[in-house]
Amino acid sequence: MSIFEGVKQLPPDPLFGLAARAKKDANPKKVDLTLGVYRDDDLNMRTMRAVKEAERVLIEEEKNKSYLPITGLEEYLSFSKELVFGKTLSGIPKANLFGAQSIGGTGALRIGGDLLCREVSKEAYVSSPTWPNHYGIFESAGMVVKPYPYYSQEKQGVDFEGMLGALASAAPKSIVVLQGCCHNPSGADLTEEQWKELSAFLLKRKLIPFFDCSYLGFADSVDKDAWPVRFLVEEGHELLVAVSYSKNFGLYGERTGCLLVVSNKETTALSSCVKPIIRTSYSNPPIHGARVVAMILRDEKLKRVWEDELEEMRTRINKVRSLLGTKLVKKFGRESFGFLEERRGMFSFLGLEEEQVEKMMDSFSVYLTSDGRINLSGLNEENIEYVVQAIEQTRLSAPR
Ligand SMILES: Cc1ncc(COP(=O)(O)O)c(C=O)c1O
Repeated sequence: MSIFEGVKQLPPDPLFGLAARAKKDANPKKVDLTLGVYRDDDLNMRTMRAVKEAERVLIEEEKNKSYLPITGLEEYLSFSKELVFGKTLSGIPKANLFGAQSIGGTGALRIGGDLLCREVSKEAYVSSPTWPNHYGIFESAGMVVKPYPYYSQEKQGVDFEGMLGALASAAPKSIVVLQGCCHNPSGADLTEEQWKELSAFLLKRKLIPFFDCSYLGFADSVDKDAWPVRFLVEEGHELLVAVSYSKNFGLYGERTGCLLVVSNKETTALSSCVKPIIRTSYSNPPIHGARVVAMILRDEKLKRVWEDELEEMRTRINKVRSLLGTKLVKKFGRESFGFLEERRGMFSFLGLEEEQVEKMMDSFSVYLTSDGRINLSGLNEENIEYVVQAIEQTRLSAPR
């Protein structure tokens, strides 16, 4: 007998389960488009040049690894605020802007969820579809999580009317989770006009924006990609931002992120409520990734090296997206795949049925998530034709 006798087997995490299935597949033609990690032209993951240099200097400096304060490395938080809100901090008085270092973007969402659930509201709205972990994170924090329409397969884009229609019935102070740029999984973002309309709508209905900024720099540039957040702040919103440095600094496993909170009043009381959440979960955050980011953002030269490499990544993603789009449009027509051109960031839906996705994995070893999302950085000039063939040969009916 075990004390765990009654413990029931749960299904594996869908994404990590799928990535494990792809990893096991020995087919030399295999194409893995599952996990959201950036791969170079040769399909390898690399440590970014600026990160390597910062790590070299950190080793030379021989700093000790004593505990950080509960909310993390102060300098890292100041640079993070500037990165998200710009040098002028979007006009936010310093005392009204709170930051806490977090265990990746996930940790920032969870700390924010805990704070909001205890102090503001127990209702959160997330886009449909969204990064699936949003549900688990906010539900674990004690919230009721509801979807709002976002991506429409029929429209091959954002269903903005549907989104506002659903949010119209949200109770005041409900949390609305918004992805700042490069929406995961669809790759479809709001236009500037839509952000403006949404901002006025949220203010009028007293709904609280919680931005998930996990891909800053993957669409146009960090400044341009942070525009929706800055705009909403300038319009007078109180809001939260979960920042992840997993993708744009390639620090995935170092678990480097932060939570930023913009308030209309000083954040001393707010800070006193966040600290116990962190203290009772993991006491204080990991030191290495924060030191790396702080060093890169402190040093103009190193910052330029980082920005250049981020631009190279963006350019490569845009190149393969365009190549894939051209090939698919040529085969199936603009009405079927023309939308690809408008997608931003590492992900895009392909508009394929789950049954076809399963066939692509089974018969061609081309792995993508069941909703038909691909990570574009898993493609290069050598495997792209094979993926197009897999799509063609597993086609059930005319793809939408
Ligand atoms: C939309 C979105 N939010 C949050 C995260 C979590 O980021 P992190 O790995 O920094 O926890 C991801 C990671 O894939 C993501 O795609």
